[in-house]
Amino acid sequence: MNQLDALKRVSIVVADTGDIDAVARWRPQDATTNPSLLLAAAQDPRYRRLVNADMDRMFVNFGREILKHVAGRVSTEVDARLSFDTVATLAKARRLMALYAEAGIGPERVLIKIAATWEGIRAAEQLEREGIHCNLTLLFSFAQAVACAEAGVTLISPFVGRIYDWHKAARKVEDIAIEEDPGVASVTRIYNYYKRHGYQTQVMGASFRKPAQIIALAGCDLLTIAPDLLEKLAHAQGAVPAMLSVDAARRVPIAQVSLNEKAYRWLHNEDAMAVEKLSDGIRKFDADARKLETFMAAQARAA
Ligand code: E4P
Repeated sequence: MNQLDALKRVSIVVADTGDIDAVARWRPQDATTNPSLLLAAAQDPRYRRLVNADMDRMFVNFGREILKHVAGRVSTEVDARLSFDTVATLAKARRLMALYAEAGIGPERVLIKIAATWEGIRAAEQLEREGIHCNLTLLFSFAQAVACAEAGVTLISPFVGRIYDWHKAARKVEDIAIEEDPGVASVTRIYNYYKRHGYQTQVMGASFRKPAQIIALAGCDLLTIAPDLLEKLAHAQGAVPAMLSVDAARRVPIAQVSLNEKAYRWLHNEDAMAVEKLSDGIRKFDADARKLETFMAAQARAA
């Protein structure tokens, strides 16, 4: 059996892409998008028909097309500019859901993706009460994970590759062995903590740089994987045993903590990597959203 099929036996496989043909090819359960992925997809001539002068509509156009190829959910991201504004995030999420509703798509098929800042987590807490399910992204610290679980969000996307990138750069090395990979260790710790303490929030490992990182997290609730890595897994043979499991996690001695705003900010700030990567991630998603706006305006002028 190839490793992709083997992985699907222990984790829900999600495609991390705006490329609709890739989703159709790999037939994952769910799919995730972000502004950078949609910038790439919007510039692809195959998807020009989905480009719209209104960015929210364009994101929903891509989401709607992706949903034709997955049985589960699509994640659509809120504008990174709103990352520190709870009220504006609420309004944006509600608008995206209204656009999905106009397209005949119900809330069970969409995850609103929000940066896991304190303000974003508060917005997600409220949205979940309204029946709008959220995927908290750019998640690098344990503090972010604890706050998301306490807020009762549907799903978190803890990043692996960007943590690995940061540590590689800090250590000035070309690679970090999988047994010592700090991105893999971060997701493992979060998964064990959630299962040990019975949180319902799902854990979706994200941002991978190599198949070994994915294999090391087999058993995680979900794993969102870019098409090039899905391809590599599909072409590799071998067993993929579950490295994470609810039973094993329940035996891990890891104390429960509760974080108010001050404690959250303190604990998150203690993690230099997480502070840097969260800020950097917001800047990058924002930069790509602005490039997308410029591209959409040029397309509208040309039309
Ligand atoms: C997940 O939510 C993101 O879309 C994605 O996994 C980020 O991956 P990257 O670090 O390769 O950009």
